[in-house]
Amino acid sequence: MGLFLVALGLLAIYLVHFYFIRRRQLPPGPFPLPFIGNTYSFAHTPIDTCVQKWKDEYGDIMTIWMGHTPIVTVHDSKVIYDTFVKDGDAYAGRAQQRWNEIFRPGHTGLIFSEGPLWRDNRRFALQVFRNLGLGRNIMQERVLDDAIALIDYTKKEIKAGTTEFNFFDELDISIGSIINSITFGYRFSRDDRTEFIKAKKIAVQQVKFGGSILYRTMEEHYEYFRYLPFFKGTYKQIVDHKTEFTDFLGGQVATHRKNIDLESDEEPTDYVEAYLKHQHKLDKEGVKDHPFSETQLYSALLDLWVAGQETTATTLAWMVIYIIQNPEVQKKCQAELDEFIGDRIATLDDKVNLNYVNATVAEAQRLCNLVPINVPHRTLRDVEIMGHKIPKHTVILNQVSTVLYDERYFPGAKTFKPERFLDDKGKFYAPPELMPFSVGKRACLGEGLARLELFLFTANLLNQFKFGEVPGKPITGERMVAGTTAPAPWVCSITARH
Ligand code: HEM
Repeated sequence: MGLFLVALGLLAIYLVHFYFIRRRQLPPGPFPLPFIGNTYSFAHTPIDTCVQKWKDEYGDIMTIWMGHTPIVTVHDSKVIYDTFVKDGDAYAGRAQQRWNEIFRPGHTGLIFSEGPLWRDNRRFALQVFRNLGLGRNIMQERVLDDAIALIDYTKKEIKAGTTEFNFFDELDISIGSIINSITFGYRFSRDDRTEFIKAKKIAVQQVKFGGSILYRTMEEHYEYFRYLPFFKGTYKQIVDHKTEFTDFLGGQVATHRKNIDLESDEEPTDYVEAYLKHQHKLDKEGVKDHPFSETQLYSALLDLWVAGQETTATTLAWMVIYIIQNPEVQKKCQAELDEFIGDRIATLDDKVNLNYVNATVAEAQRLCNLVPINVPHRTLRDVEIMGHKIPKHTVILNQVSTVLYDERYFPGAKTFKPERFLDDKGKFYAPPELMPFSVGKRACLGEGLARLELFLFTANLLNQFKFGEVPGKPITGERMVAGTTAPAPWVCSITARH
């Protein structure tokens, strides 16, 4: 009896603390349940739909609860620029999700790290991208190699009489090949896809677990949840997944170590090589406790692969779907490509002339609205937003997804209309509300690469091929929401234009 009363007392204290102290200090939002917060809402409704509905009810700032953790979400574009951009340092932290302790190699890498570890490694990664040719012709050539390989493969299939294409698989391996050549230095073969399938499985699982409701709910207290039904199975899958990707990355790094000349002055040709050389240089100089450890390397590779593959391949898949569903857009793109390109390969030099193609890419990114809930940030000092005092260490995010569908910025937001990004003279322009890569200090590190890929693949695929539906197999365009939003499985017909 005594024990029961103590438990009841503790529960009462918890509830008072939860509802009357913690909750009151933050902007209002949907009613959370004790322990699981608002995650119960995601069981039947996709997370982005829930957040949109709550935003319509509570306005441009609100609080939602992921299990026991409150997340403040901000939805107004100007407020986002005034906070996440103008006061960037205050929002540059990351939610220190406990789950990273078993789901990934801790709070390391590029996406989930903070402080000097994050800053130095982000700077290093951007430097490696530049050294590998981003912003110069060299990276364009890497990307074009894979775009041309895809074009050649598709032409061969058309000649062989193929009438139905599972084109997502082809986009997927092309983009996988680019990020693999940047991280590990080799491309994938279409004849033997085993290697790609293995790496892709790891990336898919990372995104899947990251978006899982069970994961979100047990996050803060996984050491207890892991013994409960349902949670137990997910916990085991995640532990097995970690072993699998550690073996995979370990193998890649070991192969590099075997072949590398750490003293050579030659420019590295991939990320692992650049990292190992940099690590060696710091060790040789006697720099103690530098942020370029082996664990950090694994974690950064995982982040680059996961963030750099699925995102871009899925956006391109949506682009193909939208131009099939909007044949007049396909025709306008192709008229522009006929005028400026003809049957040659389009390059970055052509970008300035291809206003309608640029607008189509931008609109595909906006409408596909890839990231249903942005990666949570953390305030690094007390801030005030729209009259709400937000204490230091609050988990917070700029909800890109509601901005991209906001009728204030994009009237008729659910329709595909590239013209919205053309001015009176037909020139492409990108308004500040178009922020698929987010903004501020934690904005997407791969934005430059992704933009290059999206432009070169879109321009060249639309120039070379006409895309359509396969008779009797309509494309539903249904949105499958997980860590990112992918289209339901689809097939298409393709005919050569030149
Ligand atoms: C269409 C493609 C892509 C989209 C829409 C996209 C979107 C995003 C978004 C919304 C974030 C979170 C920003 C925030 O926290 O506010 C992010 C972060 C990140 N992205 Fe991307 N991304 C794409 C492609 C890529 C590529 C190609 C790479 C790498 C090669 C990449 C690497 C990263 C990394 C490392 C971060 C974490 C940055 C940090 O925390 O400092 N992304 N991305």
